[in-house]
Amino acid sequence: MSKMNSFKRKDIVRFVKKQLSPSRFNHTLRVEETALDIANHYHYPANAVSVAALLHDVCKEIKKNEMFHLATSYLQRMNIEMEIESGGPAIWHGLAAAELAVTMFGIHQPEILSAIAFHTTGWYEMSPLSQIIFMADYIEPGRQFKKITKARKLTYTDLDEATIFQMKQSIRHLAKNEQRIFIESVKIYNHWVAKL
Ligand SMILES: [Fe+2]
Ligand SMILES: [Fe+2]
Repeated sequence: MSKMNSFKRKDIVRFVKKQLSPSRFNHTLRVEETALDIANHYHYPANAVSVAALLHDVCKEIKKNEMFHLATSYLQRMNIEMEIESGGPAIWHGLAAAELAVTMFGIHQPEILSAIAFHTTGWYEMSPLSQIIFMADYIEPGRQFKKITKARKLTYTDLDEATIFQMKQSIRHLAKNEQRIFIESVKIYNHWVAKL
């Protein structure tokens, strides 16, 4: 990592720490570490991974109306038409964080922004970076769920299969618990399944 990049990382870490509760901040650091490990496995450049991982949940604890406003701004900035109101904060916080990455840190690389914006739902087209962040958030060492061993194994063998696995499990989990499923998530899942 170059001097300038490590300086930037320090700035981001300091900012993120102020925004989050200790437990969520620690989750963020574990996501970064996990993402770097996956990236290393696939020979993907580390700096973009760190930036995306550190910022992915930065808006999770801000006021809901502020989160929604930032999320809407990001969609407008990217010319994405999507109904997000029904998605609630679970959907908004990633989009909001991507907007903040632009306005606060001057980050404009589409791959980094997209990885942050869609870390919860995944997206129709996902770069390796998006997939790495998506999976790292799911399998970081603090996570505990029934099929985590399989999720971890898939992450290190085939990122596409791992991505679909997570999408499928998340939808199943919501349905099982009689929770609402964000309609876009279903469309994204259908898009990925059609690739098989
Ligand atoms: Fe998140
Ligand atoms: Fe997260």
